[in-house]
Amino acid sequence: MAPVTSLTDLVQQRLADALSSALAEADGVDPLLRRSDRADFQANGILALAKKAKANPRELATQVVSGVVTGDVIKDIEVSGPGFLNITLTDSAITENLAARYADPDRLGVPFAENPGTTVVDYAQPNVAKEMHVGHLRSAVIGDAVVQLLEFTGETVVRRHHIGDWGTQFGMLIQYLDEHPHELDHKDAQVSGEEAMSNLDRLYKAARKHFDSDEEFKTRARRRVVDLQAGDPHTLAVWQKFVDESKIYFFSVFEKLDMEVRDPDIVGESGYNDMLAETCRLLEESGVAVRSEGALCVFFDDVKGPDGNPVPLIVQKSDGGYGYAATDLSAIRDRVFNLKANTLVYVVDARQSLHFKMVFETARRAGWLGDDVKAHQLAFGTVLGKDGKPFKTREGETVKLVDLLDEAIERATAVVREKDTLGQLSEADIAERGTQVGVGAVKYADLSTSANRDYKFDLDQMVSLNGDTSVYLQYAYARIQSILRKAGEVRPSAHPELELAEAERALGLHVDAFAETAAEAATEYAPHKLAAYLYQLASLFTTFYDQCPVIKPAPPKDIAENRLFLSDVTAKTLHRGMALLGIRTPERL
Ligand code: ARG
Repeated sequence: MAPVTSLTDLVQQRLADALSSALAEADGVDPLLRRSDRADFQANGILALAKKAKANPRELATQVVSGVVTGDVIKDIEVSGPGFLNITLTDSAITENLAARYADPDRLGVPFAENPGTTVVDYAQPNVAKEMHVGHLRSAVIGDAVVQLLEFTGETVVRRHHIGDWGTQFGMLIQYLDEHPHELDHKDAQVSGEEAMSNLDRLYKAARKHFDSDEEFKTRARRRVVDLQAGDPHTLAVWQKFVDESKIYFFSVFEKLDMEVRDPDIVGESGYNDMLAETCRLLEESGVAVRSEGALCVFFDDVKGPDGNPVPLIVQKSDGGYGYAATDLSAIRDRVFNLKANTLVYVVDARQSLHFKMVFETARRAGWLGDDVKAHQLAFGTVLGKDGKPFKTREGETVKLVDLLDEAIERATAVVREKDTLGQLSEADIAERGTQVGVGAVKYADLSTSANRDYKFDLDQMVSLNGDTSVYLQYAYARIQSILRKAGEVRPSAHPELELAEAERALGLHVDAFAETAAEAATEYAPHKLAAYLYQLASLFTTFYDQCPVIKPAPPKDIAENRLFLSDVTAKTLHRGMALLGIRTPERL
């Protein structure tokens, strides 16, 4: 399917042509086109250009206006204020543009990026043998949307789930399981995620109890960490059991989140074990890292502790153990040199920003990151409770992700049931939709705030039918489906010869802007921009539907067909956009 040139681009081209014939130095200058309330678009670029060319802006603008070809796309262009241009499009251009998009329901005519590259996205990284909490939700939800958005632009995306599956606590766990070998055995072949988690939880508590009360066990456990890092086969086999059991649990949570996580993309901290020694050697030989009190450290001029002393990045501890930094630095080498990435994106809590700042700077000094490879932490803020404090249970514990999702689904199911006043939905339908609405609500609340901000987790607000919620968007989509069903014999069909009402133009111009919004959201890693766009799309549809009858009172057939077409292209855009955010749009609600 050929990409559709957006209305913005069509106008842009015509303006650029007129500009460069009016003024030689205007070649390639951006006319700065924006959507406007006064006309369809306003161009502000002439002011700066006139200043540079020492010309009178209004005169230059008038000259440009006389050079613009009008008729097919531009209906009207006039000078306003000090030298702005107000531009109104023809109705036929709007309808024809949407018709071209409609013919490509999958991409809506959105072009691929000109120079796509390879991006590694590091997201959804829970820790082995630990419950997933609300922080893991943000990384998973934001990361998944960024992956979808990038793939939509044609970027090659490598997903990496950098799970916490390595480190000292495993010594204790492995030693305990080794001494109680049947604790993770299953009676049935099919183990649920919940069972897997409760097994791990039980085991963790028992191991911890031994560790705290039994000195000899403590010694054995400490020795076990060394065996693990040295790759002792038996120790590794026991460790693998933990990883496998945890994965059963992770997959069950990701499934609940309605998110695809593939096994080969799970490359945890342990996956870089073989590279750690070499990473250290390279850093030490190049002088990027130095030995300080036995530890291998990297120092930074601008990173100091509260006492004013420099805080180094510790790549290897004085006892020879490798930490989080060594793993991340090795992962960078793997991603740049083996996976050939141009961009590395880390969807990680803002509280780890200092770690990434130091890791990226170290990799730059070592020459692993350079002008051709960029690294970026997409840092997200904290999830707060209704009271504005970090989200905790009444007992003061971190909130389990699963409990939260279950509650959202429960609330959403109640909303769906309540809305079904005619009792048309079966119990199974209600359950399915409740799940799609509940999970969508949680995802949307997260994605509609810019990632770096904290946000309040407020289920009442999330599942509300009014306001900027996914439920509102899902209802808009389902409503259009119902209109299309009710239209019966009358089918959606574009009529470019028809004049458009104000609400139709506003809706149409916004549908057209999907392409540039999706591109912007992808390049800026900003799903919230797409969320805001979709909310506005649903609002513009509501206004259109209030002002322009589609079925009742029945308009003339051509108008009815055109309005159904406008409705349907809106629905397809909503569907596509929501899918990019990882949110379902049920056909009926
Ligand atoms: N597992 C870590 C946590 O739960 C997040 C890992 C982030 N990714 C990375 N490459 N360090 O906090």
